[in-house]
Amino acid sequence: MLKRSAKGSYILLDLPYEGKALPGQFFTITTSLGPYIPRPFSVYDLKDGKISFLIKSGGEIEKFLDRAPVIMNGPFGNPLPELKDPLLISGGVGYAPIHFYISKYGFGELVAGFADEELFDFVDIPGSSVSVFDPTTPIEIVKFSTLENIIACGPIEMLKSVKKALGQRSLYLIMEEKMACARGMCEGCAVMTSDGVKFVCKDGPTFKASEVDLEWTYL
Ligand SMILES: Cc1cc2nc3c(=O)[nH]c(=O)nc-3n(C[C@H](O)[C@H](O)[C@H](O)COP(=O)(O)OP(=O)(O)OC[C@H]3O[C@@H](n4cnc5c(N)ncnc54)[C@H](O)[C@@H]3O)c2cc1C
Ligand code: FES
Repeated sequence: MLKRSAKGSYILLDLPYEGKALPGQFFTITTSLGPYIPRPFSVYDLKDGKISFLIKSGGEIEKFLDRAPVIMNGPFGNPLPELKDPLLISGGVGYAPIHFYISKYGFGELVAGFADEELFDFVDIPGSSVSVFDPTTPIEIVKFSTLENIIACGPIEMLKSVKKALGQRSLYLIMEEKMACARGMCEGCAVMTSDGVKFVCKDGPTFKASEVDLEWTYL
């Protein structure tokens, strides 16, 4: 089932699923008509025989979603660690894995950044969290937290700022890279770590901030 936000900028895709998945893991999704390369999406929710994904509109996959049967594969990737009272930080649809984490393990503090109120209105946010809207960024708020364990998911520029501000603590970053095989074979989702090249699909998508080089690119 497909549910769209007020202005259609975001989609919640619910699919029947009786299997297992843990927070931080992702599935690849395509349809019988395309796109040719399935796209990875973090699990937003999993309960009552149903799995949900929070998808930002505008991607190639959107034009197929309500026209053809969905093909889903997974779960892929390593689960997030279960941490004591973590500070959770999200930017935009980076809230998807954070939402699933909260439903499974709870949280210490949550700072969720939204580019617009449309996304804020569309997702479930715990009442005790702090939501911030552009042009304020989550970084301006999280600097005041004293919690030691931190998980962040969002655009790469946000992750860089989080690492700069909080990188001395126990900080985990959920990385997003373009993927093809999602099984560690095509080498399309490489990131550089203190232990050499690793792959987001197989070794991630979560990495310790102290171990991953966010400035590294292929070229
Ligand atoms: C682990 C993970 C979790 C994610 N979770 C979410 C989520 O919860 N919600 C969400 O909205 N997004 C999520 N994403 C991002 C999502 O997979 C898509 O990148 C995003 O929806 C944009 O889709 P797109 O088709 O426009 O663009 P892209 O997938 O970025 O594609 C843009 C262009 O690149 C091409 N392309 C795509 N993949 C490849 C490839 N492997 N090789 C060569 N060309 C390629 C496409 O054909 C297109 O022309 C996640 C990504 C990762 C890695
Ligand atoms: S997507 Fe192929 S190695 Fe990660």
